[in-house]
Amino acid sequence: MTGDGSPAEQRCEKSLPALFEPFTLRGVTFANRICVTPMCQYVAEDGHAVDWHMAHHGRFSLSGVGGACVEASGITRTGRITHGCLGIYLDSHIEGLARIVSLYHAQDIPVGIQIAHSGRKGSAAVPLDGAAPLAQHDPEKAWQAVAPSAIAMSDGWPVPHALDEAEILSLLDKFAAAATRAVRAGFDFIEIHGAHGYLVNSFFSPISNKRNDRWGGPDPEHRARFPAQVAEAVRAVIPSSMPLLYRTSAVDGFDDGVTIEDTVVLARILGSSGVDLIDCSSGGIIGPSGRAALRPSPGYLVPYAERVRRDADMPTMAVGLIVAAQQAEDIVSSGQADMVAMGRQLLDDPNFAMHAARELGHPNPYSLLPESYRFFLERRKL
Ligand SMILES: Cc1cc2nc3c(=O)[nH]c(=O)nc-3n(C[C@H](O)[C@H](O)[C@H](O)COP(=O)(O)O)c2cc1C
Repeated sequence: MTGDGSPAEQRCEKSLPALFEPFTLRGVTFANRICVTPMCQYVAEDGHAVDWHMAHHGRFSLSGVGGACVEASGITRTGRITHGCLGIYLDSHIEGLARIVSLYHAQDIPVGIQIAHSGRKGSAAVPLDGAAPLAQHDPEKAWQAVAPSAIAMSDGWPVPHALDEAEILSLLDKFAAAATRAVRAGFDFIEIHGAHGYLVNSFFSPISNKRNDRWGGPDPEHRARFPAQVAEAVRAVIPSSMPLLYRTSAVDGFDDGVTIEDTVVLARILGSSGVDLIDCSSGGIIGPSGRAALRPSPGYLVPYAERVRRDADMPTMAVGLIVAAQQAEDIVSSGQADMVAMGRQLLDDPNFAMHAARELGHPNPYSLLPESYRFFLERRKL
């Protein structure tokens, strides 16, 4: 490469790996296909971001990723999983979130936020304290969790309150209010947390939703009503240029749970409800989020992203033990997913994107990094 290494110039290069091709959803272009996956840090103070969040996102904002998504942020106080979770239910949360946004925007990286309600998995201790229900761990700090049906998440967990019609409609308003705050904070996209057994997922799963009103029923189409209404409520209050993502648990991992066929139905419905991309995770309807039909191994969830992309004709993001450059390149170049979301590998190696660019023969890997690093690294002679 003889020019300035600008993204425009790189796109002209024939040798650019597929992982480093830009990707556009509505009005937002990700410079490459690597996205920081949402990762709860459990250190928020009354839902507010703290210095740790700035340091955590600071690492990734300087690393050349194509995009990033801030951790699950509660749309209500009791919609957080733990007392350490971020919130987006007060206007006072906006300032800290906007500081995270500005870290990424300073590097021209689109950043989104995952808006979430914990449902029957809420009122838990933070993982470092064992993630047990607060009702056991610290009863004074516990709250009444809610769900589509009064069914406990698993043995030892409190029975949640089954939401009535008015409460369900009120939660749709809270999702919309959270989305409005996300727009005010400057986020480029929003992801609805529809996975891991939390409220939205619990409406879609037949394991946790036994309702026989319009919010439930035997068919995936009926159980998709709440997820779709959340998507419509959010879409109605965000700019048309703003992408809306939806993280799904593509399979529950239990015989009587959500199947990939159900998820294809859901994805089609969500596509008609204003969702632009399905982020395909799995599990969590009972017990920890990792519980899935397949044992975790590198790329074990990629087939779900591939299936949804093909059968629902929706862009997808793959996630789950994506740990190596060639693996990520193969997922994108073979059309299994449009983007890869990465978590623990980025904790292990925050500069993964640049390292992957180098390994995959990107013509100018250091061009991914900010000028203050690039200038010196390009001139370093080993
Ligand atoms: C510390 C940590 C926090 C997480 N928090 C969230 C979260 O807020 N929302 C979510 O959907 N998934 C969350 N996850 C799951 C990740 O987004 C991701 O799906 C999972 O870690 C698998 O990807 P990986 O193998 O690249 O880490 C979290 C994972 C970790 C390790």
